[in-house]
Amino acid sequence: MIIVPGPASNILGEAIAHELGQEPVFITNRIFPDGESYIQMPNEVEGETVVLVQTTAPDPDRKIMQLLFMARTAKDFGAERIVAVMPYMAYARQDKRFLEGEALSFDVVLGLLESVGVDDTIVIDVHCEEALEELQPKYTMKMHNLTALFVLAKYMKQHSYDGAYSLSPDIGRKKIVERVSEVLGGGFAFFEKVRDRYTGKTTMIVKDLDLKGKNVVIFDDIISSGGTMSRAIQGLKEQGAGKVAAVCTHALPVPGANEKLRNAGADDIVATDTVESLYETVSIAGLVAEYLRTL
Ligand code: R5P
Repeated sequence: MIIVPGPASNILGEAIAHELGQEPVFITNRIFPDGESYIQMPNEVEGETVVLVQTTAPDPDRKIMQLLFMARTAKDFGAERIVAVMPYMAYARQDKRFLEGEALSFDVVLGLLESVGVDDTIVIDVHCEEALEELQPKYTMKMHNLTALFVLAKYMKQHSYDGAYSLSPDIGRKKIVERVSEVLGGGFAFFEKVRDRYTGKTTMIVKDLDLKGKNVVIFDDIISSGGTMSRAIQGLKEQGAGKVAAVCTHALPVPGANEKLRNAGADDIVATDTVESLYETVSIAGLVAEYLRTL
């Protein structure tokens, strides 16, 4: 098995290789003046299981193209098995046709990966695991979804949130956050989020909880505008919560998101390294390496 970090995940790819006791094999890449990507693969791929590590944010379209170029080239040059590790999988949120005529973007990306010869795709906290499972029968490529939430919860436990309450800001992640809450040991609750499919606006239903002075960790897959987290933080602070941490797997903050979270009263903001960010970061390299050992 060789680990090949893509241009979007040099640091994480290297960390995964080191977890496996290996040196990564780097590619050559350039961006042409017109914005196109150039990829040259190393020549050690023949007969190997080639693990490509390439996240797909920010700038998802370019990063997906680079991954496709890497996979197809490795296949052309005799790789035996191609494993695409997409720490953050762009377009996974468009996993259904919510309105007539919408592109099923998630399915299109999966189709592209299979078409260039990817045998296995590993993602971390994909937006909706059920959607991935429903699409799986269409493909011979195997899809694997790992969760970083236990790694994050263990980190929070060691960083002054032992015994904290765990909260899912959305019903969609209720089951997994309920399991994760056992790590912190302080109880579990969830809020509900309702989205207007035409305007895209969401409303949060904040439940009354008995939280006076209690620390809370909110777990979500993504921080983007910071709207979901900040509404949850506000709701918790209004109920007298102590310290509140906003914890996510994928930090994709748009400008202003950070201020929104801080203004809402976030005491800590923590994310993983699926995407590079300025937040306090917990690495998923060990999680991915451990899974790769089982393939
Ligand atoms: C949505 O269903 C996701 O689980 C996240 O809650 C959402 O993507 C976060 O986005 P934002 O930070 O823009 O509220």
